[in-house]
Amino acid sequence: MSANPIGIFDSGIGGTSIWKEIKLLLPNENTLYLADSANAPYGLKGKEIITNLSIKNTEYLLQKDCKLIVVACNTATTNAIKLLREKYQVPFIGIEPAIKPAALNSKSKAIGVLATKGTLTSELFYTTTSLYASGLKVVEQIGEGLVELIEMGKIDSQEMTSLLKSYLKPMLDANIDYLVLGCTHYPYLIPLLKELIPNHIKIIDSGEAVARQTKAVLEKHDLLNSQTINTENQFFTNGNPEILKTILGSPYHVTYLDF
Ligand code: DGL
Repeated sequence: MSANPIGIFDSGIGGTSIWKEIKLLLPNENTLYLADSANAPYGLKGKEIITNLSIKNTEYLLQKDCKLIVVACNTATTNAIKLLREKYQVPFIGIEPAIKPAALNSKSKAIGVLATKGTLTSELFYTTTSLYASGLKVVEQIGEGLVELIEMGKIDSQEMTSLLKSYLKPMLDANIDYLVLGCTHYPYLIPLLKELIPNHIKIIDSGEAVARQTKAVLEKHDLLNSQTINTENQFFTNGNPEILKTILGSPYHVTYLDF
């Protein structure tokens, strides 16, 4: 069982930012990544649709004998992980915007959160924000259009720059000192974001924390892979395999799935 893969899913290619953190911390683990790009973006869909898509993704990963599932999508986590945990036996790891560290460390008492509509309007986001950031100004911004551009491979485009400039303006006006990236697609925007904001603003995401949590849960269930040879990383997408390959940055084999 411990040699079974860790299953990871996202609405598209963004969750590869989480896959990369997991591989960095757990290089011996076999992994299976599922990009539901044909249904991206999830962020504009309602809770019920997001939940149904998350169930479909989970069942695919379970069919492939995944020993643990990482919901590498803030939108799916904040809307569906509770139900997934109730419905299935396998351990789930989710991802949420890193409000807590940003709120605890902010000196200007103002933080920015860039995330999808689905995440920002979720109950879980509301609860976390009320719990950790009630004494702060939290500038929330829906990153409308960003996931779509990333899914098209247009990370360094003029359209991306103009969207980001307009989304950052209210945050800069509010004097934020932390920018929380609440969507797993957004870490790919960090080089561009750094050009658009002053140096003193820290950009944070939850990728490393998710990898640490994955390790802790595998340890707890005695599921860490003990075999160190022939590690396999499988990638499946119902979108364009070339775009997934490009974002992975290494020559991994990507399989198209009619899913
Ligand atoms: N990567 C997903 C997230 O973390 C993107 C959601 C979407 O498809 O809109 O929220």
